Amino acid sequence: MVSRYRPVTKTITHYAANACLLPICQLHGAAITTVEGIGSTKTRVHPVQERIAKAHGSQCGFCTPGMVMSMYALLRNTPQPSMDDIAEALAGNLCRCTGYRPIIDGCRTFCQEANCCQESGVTNCCINGENGNSDELFDKDQFQPLDPTQELIFPPELILTSQTPRPEPLTFQGERMTWVSPGSMDQLVQLRSRHPGAPLVMGNTNIGPDIKFKGIIHPLIISPTRVTELFETTQTPEGVWVGAGSSLSEVRTLLENLVPQYPPEKTELFRALIKQLGNLGSQQIRNVASLGGNIVSAYPNSDLNPVLAAGRCKLSVVSSGGKREVPLNQDFFVNFGKTILKPHEIVVSVFIPFTRKGEFVGAFRQAPRKESSFATVTTGMRVFFSEGSRVVQDISIYYGGMGPTTVSAVKTCWDDETLGRAYEVLLEELVLPPSAPGGKVEFRRSLTLSLLFKFNLEVLHKLRHMVRLWSAPEGSMEKKKIIISQTPLPQSVSQEQNSQDPVGRPIMHRSALSQATGEAVYCDDLPRTDGELFLALVTSSRAHAKIIQLDVSEALKVPGVVDVITAKDIPGRKVRTMCGYDEELLAGSEVSCIGQMVCGVVADTRAHAKRGAAAVKISYEDLPEPIFTIEEAIEKSSFFEPRRRIERGNVTEAFKSVDQIYEGEHRMGGQEHFYMETQSMLVVPVGEEREFNIYVSTQWPAATQEAVAQTLGIPSNRVTCHVKRMGGAFGGKVTKTSILASVTSVAVTNRPVRCILERGEDMLITGGRHPVVGKYKVGFMNDGRIIAADIQFYTNAGNTIDESVLVIEKILLHMDNAYNIPHLRGSGAACRTNLPSNTAFRGFGVPQSLMFVENMITDVSMVLGLPADKIREINMYRGPSVTHYKYQFNPENLLRCWDQCKAKSTFSSRRTAVDQFNQQNQWKKRGMSIIPIKYGIAFGEGFLNQAAALVHIYKDGSVLVTHGGTEMGQGIHTKVQQVASRELHIPTSKVYISETGTNTVPNTCPSAASFGTDANGMAVKNACQTLYQRLEPIRKKNPKGLWESWVTAAFFEKISLSATGFHRGPDLYMDWEAMEGQPYAYFTYGACFSEVELDCLSGDYRTLRTDIVVDIGRSVNPSVDIGQVEGAFMQGLGLYTLEELKFSPSGLLYTRGPSQYKIPAVCDVPLSFNVYLLPDSYNPHAIYSSKGIGEPVVFLGSSVFYAIKDAVAAARSQSGLAGPFPLDSPATADKACLASASHFTQKVRVVGRSFGPWAGLSVGGGGWIQGRVSG
Ligand SMILES: Cc1cc2nc3c(=O)[nH]c(=O)nc-3n(C[C@H](O)[C@H](O)[C@H](O)COP(=O)(O)OP(=O)(O)OC[C@H]3O[C@@H](n4cnc5c(N)ncnc54)[C@H](O)[C@@H]3O)c2cc1C
Ligand code: FES
Repeated sequence: MVSRYRPVTKTITHYAANACLLPICQLHGAAITTVEGIGSTKTRVHPVQERIAKAHGSQCGFCTPGMVMSMYALLRNTPQPSMDDIAEALAGNLCRCTGYRPIIDGCRTFCQEANCCQESGVTNCCINGENGNSDELFDKDQFQPLDPTQELIFPPELILTSQTPRPEPLTFQGERMTWVSPGSMDQLVQLRSRHPGAPLVMGNTNIGPDIKFKGIIHPLIISPTRVTELFETTQTPEGVWVGAGSSLSEVRTLLENLVPQYPPEKTELFRALIKQLGNLGSQQIRNVASLGGNIVSAYPNSDLNPVLAAGRCKLSVVSSGGKREVPLNQDFFVNFGKTILKPHEIVVSVFIPFTRKGEFVGAFRQAPRKESSFATVTTGMRVFFSEGSRVVQDISIYYGGMGPTTVSAVKTCWDDETLGRAYEVLLEELVLPPSAPGGKVEFRRSLTLSLLFKFNLEVLHKLRHMVRLWSAPEGSMEKKKIIISQTPLPQSVSQEQNSQDPVGRPIMHRSALSQATGEAVYCDDLPRTDGELFLALVTSSRAHAKIIQLDVSEALKVPGVVDVITAKDIPGRKVRTMCGYDEELLAGSEVSCIGQMVCGVVADTRAHAKRGAAAVKISYEDLPEPIFTIEEAIEKSSFFEPRRRIERGNVTEAFKSVDQIYEGEHRMGGQEHFYMETQSMLVVPVGEEREFNIYVSTQWPAATQEAVAQTLGIPSNRVTCHVKRMGGAFGGKVTKTSILASVTSVAVTNRPVRCILERGEDMLITGGRHPVVGKYKVGFMNDGRIIAADIQFYTNAGNTIDESVLVIEKILLHMDNAYNIPHLRGSGAACRTNLPSNTAFRGFGVPQSLMFVENMITDVSMVLGLPADKIREINMYRGPSVTHYKYQFNPENLLRCWDQCKAKSTFSSRRTAVDQFNQQNQWKKRGMSIIPIKYGIAFGEGFLNQAAALVHIYKDGSVLVTHGGTEMGQGIHTKVQQVASRELHIPTSKVYISETGTNTVPNTCPSAASFGTDANGMAVKNACQTLYQRLEPIRKKNPKGLWESWVTAAFFEKISLSATGFHRGPDLYMDWEAMEGQPYAYFTYGACFSEVELDCLSGDYRTLRTDIVVDIGRSVNPSVDIGQVEGAFMQGLGLYTLEELKFSPSGLLYTRGPSQYKIPAVCDVPLSFNVYLLPDSYNPHAIYSSKGIGEPVVFLGSSVFYAIKDAVAAARSQSGLAGPFPLDSPATADKACLASASHFTQKVRVVGRSFGPWAGLSVGGGGWIQGRVSG
């Protein structure tokens, strides 16, 4: 949080800001408050820290300091916020673990009660306890009150400094950059005229990213933040002059204050700007980004410029040549990032005029995510009618996102009669070539029409001629930002359970408070050690090429660069072998994808290493025909072997006896892990006998240890891996980390080396979830029974095999999902392509597999015209059942989840309400779906189902537990602590888990497959039981003694107080020849209902409600498990509706950061979000009758996809289109909008796929293949 004293108003302002965009020089005179400053576990935690932690809002904890500080800054300004304030404050913070609900719930406790869910007018409110259970996951009454008088004060010395004018320029000198902050307008004008090329840095939100990501160097930076004229506001009878230096938040507040002071007709433009400012970036961005900066940056999709231009705004500009006024019109924007302003000119202020009677201004935007996202298309429109008539006297229409700069539709005019013609003219005027940067050409063109239509409706509405086309009878959801429901806690422990026994209770994540106070240590938090070096990686810029020359001479000249490592420097094994294929650690003579590691530059600092990496020159000779898409791979038979096949019954024969056959195809894109903590490691040489300590963020420390030992050619006993915690992992830190750690270890001579990937590098190098293309043929009876199905799956594995064949196997094993299809055949192949290699990702193929099955079932329902839930029910497993790989199970709990989900969601009445809504609304449609899941737990490779633990009891009675599981936010250490506490009959406070180390528990298996607690919990239980039994004679001698006295006595009796524990898990297997096996220990079941509202004109949707019922047996820790359920659901929602990877035609990943790749944010959480744990479920196969839950619920996020598909179907049926239709995953706004086949999308010529050559590879390539029905 930044705090500043404003000498003119004598006020102190506080605002949240993004640290990565704040230049340190800009902070001269400001007070900075960090998460460490507001509270500490050693003194007193701040109420915000306490409430987020105790409400279970911190899992891996990497996002928690940001959440805390956004909320803290809000409370400093608004001690009793509304829920909308909270939603807005948190809109710019991302969390990949929690699903946001618990964070919001913690923050909600600062609201006045009237501000909670009651506000939204729903019936099941958190206050009246109508969420099904009075039990809560946390006890609000224990929270400290918020006392604003106890907050840190603004440093008085800074007030004094601010009050003392310092007119002379301030100068800061860096290694390659000079920063000058002039003290007056004259100095600024002189500086600017002497250095016209030097940027003026205000908010740094444009210049900063350019420096950081594009490597642009500005030798001189001018920071005019002390020039008061840039912040002055003047009102005139015609409008208001706003200082160009004002932050966007300040502009918004100013306009919001002005609006009530004038009649509405005068403030049309003000209100349009307020609307746009509410959605622009995030609060952190708006708090620093300046009005002048936004205008001059001339982004093609600036949200302000189209509105300012349409609203006839003008600029007051000054330079050494004098002052002038410049109108903001179509002539102002010259090209990408260029305006007509001269390089030495400075924008002093912006004039925003009042509107006139009969004048209307509209502002609309469509963005990939509703908040914190640049718009795909954004617009400002103004129309002026002659007084008392509907004759258009003047009109201006500007769009962003439709070309390299803000564009004006000068020829387009419009009134009631000519609107149809206006669309034609608009389409002719705003032409986008198929290769336009940003892609989605048809969608963008259709948006220009539909946004104009929206403006027309809005104006009609204002003119009171509005027909009831637009607004929904139930009220628009657009305004409702808040999450309504709190999660109930349906499982409670039995009355007989000892009150000290923590198992089954919602114990807070054991590190939550340290995470919320910023004390939790992640890999890159480890203090720099003496002589430490940094490794920056150099990656291939070609998809398939020979390396002709690797020239590192310039890199070695960069100050601070110590060495450059290449494949030749690897002393031991240069490759890692997986499933019989070798993968090079560093490319030798050839590269096979863009992003493949070629060499690494080692330097004294991160900045020097990066400069060195940029100076490495690699020349290539391209090899013919790189393969990018699944289709290309199929055509060229480019597969990793073995391919897999499974069949039950006789599919070919069965097709002969069915009523109908349908053949379809579905495509599903990949997914980036987007763990908040990127790949991180620090390799420290111990100094003797080639011993190394590795501090690393990995799910599999043993594999990292082994890989490093092999790379260095030393025995494993010289390498110790330490994993304290990870800031998220989701499967991405299983295999990929071991390669990165191996490369880092090569860079170590006698000094420690740290390697922390930047987000962009991480996304480029490490791969993610496999995209899949699948074809299916399904035979069914007219009553809905599916008799036979044949599905072919192809994944895009990338350039190395990694775990791709194992993913294919899991895809095939789950292809029955919840359905008993008597004749079922599946085949799967991992395609070898020239894209970065994909890897494990939460669910390991299951979220892809089931998507095809459910899509097939949805198609069957559409062919038959029967409700999809009925088709699902008809085909569901019932009674004693056998899977297609001959595994026997009882689906009773699957059916119970399904029935309870239907009941909790009031499925039938929601269906009626949705259908009614759709009849009454032309452009907004609602859709709903209910989806089941049956998910196999444990590793199909039987040997991986083992775990070990080491438990020490010290003489003071404290207990140190170590086990093979790693903590990545899933709460394994918290659950294991509960296990130890129960088994040793001591409070959890006596049990400590320090880290996972290969020196304490060797040969561990990865924390994956939702099996971590099952295996490691059992190993710890085993060790603790051994110890407790050893204490038995002592306990018998002194039954009333305390734990500490027993431990002391045991020591003097020479009883060992240290024990290992081991769990030999089930001997699971799968025989692919015989097509049968026992690959899972048991199934976790669930069902999920979702309802959405879709804006068919823009493709925007909002999830109105989600109800999840999951069977996780007897939960060891319901708050941790509910956290896993919600987090997985949101990750699934992202996978199926939001997250889209884009590659260039040459195989370069475009989406390499949060601005291009959108994971779900607070705005995406269902408005009503309810999770229920199935009661009365017991599981003899896992610890304390619990079940694994880390992965299964990802797939239930698809309920939102199918709800969108249902809404699209309703829109299509309005246009007379019936039957199955393709909708690829993710169902992003463009796909949903185009599939809705509205009047506007049909006007736009569709040329094949919506992605032109700019990015042809978002899913796997190729065109849509329509389904075919026969029979
Ligand atoms: C994460 C993120 C999300 C964003 N989302 C959106 C969004 O949704 N919609 C949107 O419209 N924008 C968005 N932006 C862009 C943002 O609004 C602009 O970058 C910002 O307004 C620029 O202002 P600044 O003060 O930070 O500019 P700076 O980076 O400080 O400067 C930018 C440029 O403007 C010039 N300049 C600045 N002030 C003046 C002046 N007074 N006179 C002459 N030249 C000047 C500088 O010389 C420099 O070239 C986003 C930016 C980020 C980083
Ligand atoms: S807890 Fe939010 S990212 Fe992990």
